[in-house]
Amino acid sequence: MTDRYAVIGNPISHSKSPQIHMVFAQQTDQDIQYEALLAPLDGFQSTVNVFRQQGGSGMNITVPFKQEACQLATGLTKRARIAGAVNTFKFDNDRILGDNTDGAGLVRDIAVNLNISVTDKRILLMGAGGAARGVILPLLQQQPAGLVIANRTPHKAQLLRQQFAEFGPVNARDYMELSGECFDIIINATSASLSDALPELPSGMFTRSTLAYDMMYSTEPTRFLNYAAQQGAQQLADGTGMLVEQAAESFYLWRGIRPETQNIIANLKKPEA
Ligand code: ATR
Repeated sequence: MTDRYAVIGNPISHSKSPQIHMVFAQQTDQDIQYEALLAPLDGFQSTVNVFRQQGGSGMNITVPFKQEACQLATGLTKRARIAGAVNTFKFDNDRILGDNTDGAGLVRDIAVNLNISVTDKRILLMGAGGAARGVILPLLQQQPAGLVIANRTPHKAQLLRQQFAEFGPVNARDYMELSGECFDIIINATSASLSDALPELPSGMFTRSTLAYDMMYSTEPTRFLNYAAQQGAQQLADGTGMLVEQAAESFYLWRGIRPETQNIIANLKKPEA
C-alpha cells in the first residue's frame, strides 16, 4: 500500500520537499506519495487531523507552524524538545511523534557536503526565531569554540542564550555590538532574505575564509550572500544542502533508509532547477 506524507505550511507552493522526497522514494524503491498542504494560519491543527484521518503516515512542517507543531505532538525527540520546534511528524496510531531534523541537516551540509568542520570554530548565528532555535543544539554538539547569537530584538537572543547555556559556550549580542569581532562561520537564520532585507551589520566580521551560510535557498544569491561576498568571504552557501539533508533525515525517521543526497543537491543548485 502507498504510504502518504505531506509538507504543511503557509505559504507552501514554493516548497521543494515533494520533489525531494519523490526522488528519495524512487532511489530507495519506497512506495510513497508526498504532497504539499496549505493550512490556513488559524487551521494548522485541523489540517493535520484531516490528513491523519485520511491515513497519512507523517508530515514535514514548515513556516509558520513549527512551534505550534511542538504543542500538537504527543511525544518529542530530545532535539525537538530542546529546540521547542518540530519539522517532522511521524504518526503511529493515536500518537504523533515530533522531531526536528533541521539542525542535523545544517550540520551535515556544513561538515560533510562543504567539508568544513564546526569543531573549535567561532560561529555567529543571526536570528532568534524558530529557524535559529532548531539549529543551536546540533551546532553546540559539534563543540565549536563559541556560538554567538545576534538578533534585531536583543532580548530574544538573550533568552536563547539562557536556555542553551548548559549545552555549550553560547553568547548573545546586539548586531552592532559585534563590531571588531570576526567569525569562521556566519549563519543567517533570520527571515530577512525572504523580503530581500538584511540586518544592519558592522563591517569586518567576514574574513576570506569565513563560511557565509544563508539558511534560505533561492535561485539568485541572497542579499546576505551578496553582502558577505562584498565583505570578502569566499565560501558562500545557501540553504539548498540543508533543505535536502533535513529531508533525508526525516525520510530516514519514516522509512528506516538513508537516501543519497549529492545528486539532488547538485540538481537543485543548477540555475534552471
Ligand atoms: P523563523 O521561524 O523563520 O525563524 P520567526 O520566528 O518569525 O521566523 O523569526 C524571524 C527571525 O528573523 C527573527 O530573529 C527576526 O528578528 P526579530 O526577532 O527582531 O523580529 C529576524 N528578522 C526578520 N526580518 C528581519 C530584518 N529585516 N532584519 C533583521 N532581522 C530580521
